[in-house]
Amino acid sequence: MAFNWQRIMKIGCHRGCTLVYQRNLQLRPLTCQFQRRFGTEKRNSFFVTTPIYYVNAAPHMGHLYSSVIADATARHRNINGHDVTFSVGTDEHGLKIQQASKLHNLEPEVFVSQVSQMFKTMFDGFSIAYTDFIRTTEGRHKEVVQHIWSELMRQGFIYKGEYSGWYSVSDEAFLGEKDVLDKTDDQGNKFKVSAESGHPVTWLKEENYVFALSQFKDKLNAWLDKGVIYPKNFETDVRCYVNDLCDLSVSRSHSRLTWGIQVPGDPSQTVYVWLDALFNYLTVSGFPTKSQSVWPPDVQVIGKDILKFHAVYWPAFLMATGLEPPRKIFCHSHWRVDNTKMSKSLGNVVDPFALKNKYGGQADVLRYYLLREGVPHHDGNFNEKVAIEYVNADIVNTLGNLLQRCTATSLNPDQIYPRKYMDVYQSKFNTSDRETFENLEMLVETVNKHYDNLNFYLGIESIMSYLRWCNGLTQAHAPWKLKNSTNPSDIEYVKTVIHISLETLRVCGILLQPAIPAISDRLLSRLGIPAEKRTFELARKPYLNSPDFYPLGPNDGVLLKRLDVPNS
Ligand code: ME8
Ligand code: MG
Repeated sequence: MAFNWQRIMKIGCHRGCTLVYQRNLQLRPLTCQFQRRFGTEKRNSFFVTTPIYYVNAAPHMGHLYSSVIADATARHRNINGHDVTFSVGTDEHGLKIQQASKLHNLEPEVFVSQVSQMFKTMFDGFSIAYTDFIRTTEGRHKEVVQHIWSELMRQGFIYKGEYSGWYSVSDEAFLGEKDVLDKTDDQGNKFKVSAESGHPVTWLKEENYVFALSQFKDKLNAWLDKGVIYPKNFETDVRCYVNDLCDLSVSRSHSRLTWGIQVPGDPSQTVYVWLDALFNYLTVSGFPTKSQSVWPPDVQVIGKDILKFHAVYWPAFLMATGLEPPRKIFCHSHWRVDNTKMSKSLGNVVDPFALKNKYGGQADVLRYYLLREGVPHHDGNFNEKVAIEYVNADIVNTLGNLLQRCTATSLNPDQIYPRKYMDVYQSKFNTSDRETFENLEMLVETVNKHYDNLNFYLGIESIMSYLRWCNGLTQAHAPWKLKNSTNPSDIEYVKTVIHISLETLRVCGILLQPAIPAISDRLLSRLGIPAEKRTFELARKPYLNSPDFYPLGPNDGVLLKRLDVPNS
């Protein structure tokens, strides 16, 4: 039953788009029926998501960045005993994709499958240990979207109207007069762009279904009051959106957009791609049937370009269906190249695979740089030379060098992880070094806290300063000068230096697992630490209790070979 488009009222939104609409003003109260059936209790589960990326072009470093942050979070929780659901995926509907497949002269089904596979290959190539890879073209997702649509309709939160305003295909976003700017091209032609993204916009006037977004102002503000937006500086932007809310068009005419999910009961309309895409997270959770639900997401990692969609539209959609909104939105800034945002549309992207292949085929090189250098609150500028210098300084010269020194057969002929000898420890090491060493437990606390907040750069910085301290300590005590001594106290002294270094490496290796899983695994295996003894809990406790030593693991070469630094 298609709707009879009936215009009863015309409102001008203060953002400058116009809705002419017929609506059921008698809105029913929010239902709790989904909540009762679905997801009110969470046990030890942890649910983290990445955005699902558009398949209009190949993946780039920006996509990898969000995915590595989420992966490091998933690994951190997993190591510490959580039952983790970690979803990634691809956003495959909408005008942007419809146009891209046409440009490639391919059927949309074929085109989206090819590009989606490229994202999957990237995730697999960079150790992104997702538990679910979702594609919005899957049947399970279509069912959820249609289910949700019907529920929103039943609740009276979707009504029909005529939308007129601007549309950015690149952002798949509806924009009002206030959100666009005038531009002039080289030939002097005037055109309009989105003020936020800079992408061109086109004028749109069509009959759509509309979501009563403006009703959710108070509820959204109450949700924001819980401090759900991280880092805090992004909350200000969200509050601005919320205080300036108007209703949202949530469908497109089928005549313009065929590539999408059909509005239930109305073949003349296709579901707006953002409503479709956002509900991917609910599909992953097993909605509506899975009995042990992971809902709501504990943290959703996104870039600042899609903050409005995730921090305004998304929670409002969920509130309208009686489902809990996410517990935390972690929003990061952008990687730029030569101070321009890296983006598929602009064609200035960094290809993660090209970098991986150039630098020894190790995923951890780029993972490390992204997590070490990327800060959420302001944009980063990618520079290959700087990236490689960082990795050489930290992983090769600091971590690798310390391991090499203390496990070399010349210094450690028995290949052991020795205990420390109290007498030499008290007499040869100054109070400050002893305190630092005894504070390893505090390092675990600090890093754990930073990782909980997804501030990986802070966690890694703390780890690296410990490793630098320990390298300095080894250098100062120069145990290699005593390696041929047969004097028992010299031998105990050497073993104590080795103990301090290996214990520091063990703790740092455990803490680095979420960021650089392959290198950490090699480090911990070399130290002889069994897989089940690599939790943060055990990092807090000294490794050696009663025995004099543990055997080291096998030596399979240096952790990472020094990388050739490019010229620029
Ligand atoms: O927006 N720096 O997909 P998208 C850092 N399909 N991160 C970047 C980046 C950069 N230069 N460029 C992209 C979409 N990203 C929608 C999402 S979710 C329900 C739907 C990352 O392919 C960042 O996470 O345009 C950004 O938000 C996302 O990729 C946008 O990917
Ligand atoms: Mg984009």
